[in-house]
Amino acid sequence: ALLHEELSGDEVLVVSNREPYIHTQSPNGIEVQRPASGLVTAVEPVMRACSGTWIAHGGGSADKLTVDKHDCVSVPPGNPSYTLRRVWLTKEEEQGYYYGFANEGLWPLCHIAHVRPVFRSTDWEQYVEVNRRFADAVIKEARTDNPVILVQDYHFALLPNMVRKALPKATIITFWHIPWPNPESFGILPWRKEILEGLLGSTILGFHTPFHCQNFIHTVDRYLEARIEHDASTISYCEKLTQVQAYPISIAWPESKQEESGEDICMEVRKELGLSANHLLGIGVDRLDYTKGIVERFQAIERLMELHPSMIGRFSFLQIAAPSRSSLEEYQNFEARVRTLARKINTRFGSAGYEPIILRTKHHEPEQINRYYRAANVCLVTSLHDGMNLVAKEFIASRDDDQGVLILSQFTGAARELPEALIVNPYHIEQGAAALYRALVMPEVEQRERMRCMRALVKEFNVYRWAGHMLMDAARLRRRERVTARI
Ligand code: G6P
Repeated sequence: ALLHEELSGDEVLVVSNREPYIHTQSPNGIEVQRPASGLVTAVEPVMRACSGTWIAHGGGSADKLTVDKHDCVSVPPGNPSYTLRRVWLTKEEEQGYYYGFANEGLWPLCHIAHVRPVFRSTDWEQYVEVNRRFADAVIKEARTDNPVILVQDYHFALLPNMVRKALPKATIITFWHIPWPNPESFGILPWRKEILEGLLGSTILGFHTPFHCQNFIHTVDRYLEARIEHDASTISYCEKLTQVQAYPISIAWPESKQEESGEDICMEVRKELGLSANHLLGIGVDRLDYTKGIVERFQAIERLMELHPSMIGRFSFLQIAAPSRSSLEEYQNFEARVRTLARKINTRFGSAGYEPIILRTKHHEPEQINRYYRAANVCLVTSLHDGMNLVAKEFIASRDDDQGVLILSQFTGAARELPEALIVNPYHIEQGAAALYRALVMPEVEQRERMRCMRALVKEFNVYRWAGHMLMDAARLRRRERVTARI
């Protein structure tokens, strides 16, 4: 309701790199996949609710075939409610803009995971060029001179200012889905000025936490001649005002009651994994990314088994690891480390028919993942650094039985909202092992108390609120601008 009230007839355009539906070629024909992406998890339900157009990179192996060289399709398949417009990139563009500048440069720059960023000027040139191409697509798609444009993430830092120049009356809301580092860390970027100027084309610039907002404001203060109102959290630069604000992202709370009972799911999943009915099960769901702390998580499991041999043969950990950015060497090396460690732990503590770590490195659809969440005794989210982390919130939303324990890294945005989780420092392996043991022996009453609090919070602060708050703030700024223009 909040969304519709705020939008009342406004045109909405979303722009992101990742598309919400990927068409892949398979032996059975064309399959539609939903990607493993926190951004897509959050923005897709918002788009379903408010319709409009989503502009994204058409990346699936069958995308181009599916649309038969037309750029637009109505989605979701079977229940179309908005338009997906694909921008096709060449191999060189994808290499330089996505793999290179975005994922070898900005991604490690913004996440403190101690992976050194790589900045190549050839990548930068492609990044500028692709931002230009997407900006042109937005401008072409706009039917009015004042649309609401929701720009997503670090792939499009230059786009807000590019669009602003062509559509000065547009309301540009940019959301940065990853952390923003401190000024010293950010300052090593050779094109820091350009990135900051690009983002300051936004009417509103959103981050997950007040801490990331402060980091951004201090970065601007250090490197640009801008006027900053610290109390109001606004930045004036080149006669343009940008509001910098925290909007903790969330998920859509499940509308209907789950069909199968929690008990049935527990049994089925254990059967599927070859485990006995009372076997203890842990779950981890991540992209295979070095920021997610998967190695540290496995080390904590290894330590648990050293300290509590009673858990050997009684506890297994299912790690769903979606392949991600796998043409980059850093990601290939990371995958190898994860596999080697899982193998080592399984050799050390496993036995015939028993694997302490069940590692599945393939894509899973949300429905499958939901079953695993429901069957687990504990969910481990141990990111070394993470903007929000929506796996934590999805796990909570799936637990309508009020059971299950969440272990959550203190370096996620989610940790600020969910103190009832067992909060850990993922680098501290002993602490991780202790939290895991505590979770596995936690009485049902305590699980229920904690889970109920977390469920109440995620239910209330759902993703429609996230979008609604940004749109409400944008409407206020638009009104203020109109009044100032009249004076
Ligand atoms: C993070 C980013 C998203 C991205 C997702 C998946 O959540 O903030 O922008 O879509 O990772 O990564 P990928 O590179 O596969 O889109």
